[in-house]
Amino acid sequence: MIGGVAWTTWREATERALYGERGFFRTNAPSQHFRTSVHASPVFAEAVRCLARDAALTTVIDVGAGGGELLGALHALDPSLELIGVDLAQRPPVLPADASWQHEVPVAAGALLVANEWLDDVPVDVVELTDDGWRLVLVDPATGAERLGPSPADDDADWLATWWPAEDVGARAEIGRSRDEAWAAAVGRLTDGLAVAIDYAHDRASRPPAGSLTGYRDGRQVPPVPDGSCDVTSHVALDACAAAGIGAGATATLLTTQRAALTALGVRRDAPPHELSRTDPAGYLRALSRSGEVAELTDPGGLGGFGWLLQARGLTQVPLDAARPPPRPATGAGGG
Ligand SMILES: C[S@@+](CC[C@H](N)C(=O)[O-])C[C@H]1O[C@@H](n2cnc3c(N)ncnc32)[C@H](O)[C@@H]1O
Repeated sequence: MIGGVAWTTWREATERALYGERGFFRTNAPSQHFRTSVHASPVFAEAVRCLARDAALTTVIDVGAGGGELLGALHALDPSLELIGVDLAQRPPVLPADASWQHEVPVAAGALLVANEWLDDVPVDVVELTDDGWRLVLVDPATGAERLGPSPADDDADWLATWWPAEDVGARAEIGRSRDEAWAAAVGRLTDGLAVAIDYAHDRASRPPAGSLTGYRDGRQVPPVPDGSCDVTSHVALDACAAAGIGAGATATLLTTQRAALTALGVRRDAPPHELSRTDPAGYLRALSRSGEVAELTDPGGLGGFGWLLQARGLTQVPLDAARPPPRPATGAGGG
C-alpha cells in the first residue's frame, strides 16, 4: 500500500476482478454485456457440429462456456452429442439436462474442445517499454490508475523477447504466458481429438504497439477498471498459444481466420431468391435473417477477423484444410 493505494499487477487485479468471490464472471452472464459468435447466430453452432462430424468426434467440451448457449444450440442440432461445459461460473439454468458442467477441463478422448472467447479473459500482466527496458505496469484496482513497477520476471522477459519484441519507448504489451499455459493445459487434457480456440487475435507481424487492454460493460467498450464492474480483456497472441499447444503434444496445427474456417465448413451467405417472398414470405424472412447472421459471423472487420487456432492430438492433419491461409510471399522477393 503506497499513499493509500494498493498498487498491484494487472494480472492479479484482473484475476480478482473477474473471478474473485464477487467477480464479474461470477455474478454476470457474458450475454448481458457482449455479443459473441455464439449469441450472434445458431449458424456458429452448426459449424461447430460440422467440425465435430468431419473429425468423427462425438463429445464437445465447451471451455469458458459462459451462459451455455453453444451447448444448448448443439443439443438442439444433435441430441446424440455428449456435451460438457467448463466454466468457473455456476451451471447455467438453461443447460440441457444431460450436459455435464465442470469447473476444470476434464481429461477426454475423442472430443472436440471449443474455447470461444475464453483466452482473452485469461488475466495477463501488462508491461511498458522504458529507456531501461520493460517495466511491469501496476494498477489501482479501485480506479484503474496506473504507475510503473519493477522489471518483469525472467520467464516473462523471455516471452516478450520471443513473442512481442518492441523498440519504441512507451510501447505497451500484454504478456501472454498465462494464456499459453492455460491453452497448453487444455490441449494436454485431450488424449486424442481436436482443440479449437477462437478469439480476438494478433500475431508477431500484427501486435498492437500500445497493447489492447480494454473493458466491456452493457454492450459498450469502457476503460478497463479492475473493480469487478466490467470485463477486462485483451487480444490474444494466438501464435504463441499455438507453440504452447505443440509443446503440449499437438500433432497438427492450423491458424486461420473465422471467415476462412466457416467458409471451409460450408457456411455460405446465400441471399434468398426474391421469388420466395411471394411463395413463402415467412421462409423468405428466415432466409434473409440467416444471410444477415452469416454476414456478421464472417465480416473480416468483425467476428470474421477472429483467429481460429485448431490443434489436433492423435491426428496428422486438422480436418479443415481448405481454411489453410495461402503462404506469405517471401520477403525481399521483387518488392516494390
Ligand atoms: C467472454 S466469456 C465467453 C463465453 C462463451 N464462450 C461465449 O462465447 O459466449 C469467457 C468465459 O470464460 C470463463 N473462464 C475464464 N477463465 C476460465 C477458466 N480458467 N476456467 C473456466 N472458465 C473460465 C469466464 O467465466 C467466462 O464465462
